[in-house]
Amino acid sequence: MIRHLKETDYQTIISVVNDWWNGRKMDHMLPMLFFTHFQNTSFVIEEQDEIVGFIIGFVSQSQQNEAYIHFVGVHPQYRELGIAKKLYEQFFTTVKQHGCQIVKCITSPVNTNSIAFHQKMGFQIEETDTLMEGIYVKRNYDGQGNNRVLFYKSLY
Ligand SMILES: CC(C)(COP(=O)(O)OP(=O)(O)OC[C@H]1O[C@@H](n2cnc3c(N)ncnc32)[C@H](O)[C@@H]1OP(=O)(O)O)[C@@H](O)C(=O)NCCC(=O)NCCS
Repeated sequence: MIRHLKETDYQTIISVVNDWWNGRKMDHMLPMLFFTHFQNTSFVIEEQDEIVGFIIGFVSQSQQNEAYIHFVGVHPQYRELGIAKKLYEQFFTTVKQHGCQIVKCITSPVNTNSIAFHQKMGFQIEETDTLMEGIYVKRNYDGQGNNRVLFYKSLY
């Protein structure tokens, strides 16, 4: 079952997020504000009342016709079943209704699963002046030493 994100999902999701990211510390990047202010464009999928996947995204306030996906995560035992794809499709449909024509998101270069997933979902990687192991990265995008891969996808 797919439904909108709720404030009460915060504890559930924050308690699993580091595990779902393979032990990487991610929970500080998902404060409560996302659960309060971005419900219309954020979704969870439940299986027998348990959250097995979530997407947190929004319509850009400053970039016209753009939407942004901040986080997507799927329970490790439910991967490669099309859950993230379903969440992305729901997000694309929703932001298109708000006039968005392009979706952007970023990932860390170490997250090769995320890079493969986004490429499968039709995202392009923004070309920069730095190629690392065959992938374009934006150096220091999120602060010193925090390189990022920048994705974009046209919705048309
Ligand atoms: C990345 C992630 C969200 C993918 O979720 P998922 O539910 O397993 O993905 P789906 O089953 O919907 O896959 C959609 C497509 O991507 C492909 N895909 C998914 N993970 C992949 C991987 N690791 N390598 C290659 N392809 C992959 C699938 O094969 C599928 O392709 P298809 O449409 O041709 O069949 C999941 O692995 C995850 O939660 N990872 C940890 C959190 C994370 O890194 N999030 C992303 C950064 S914010």
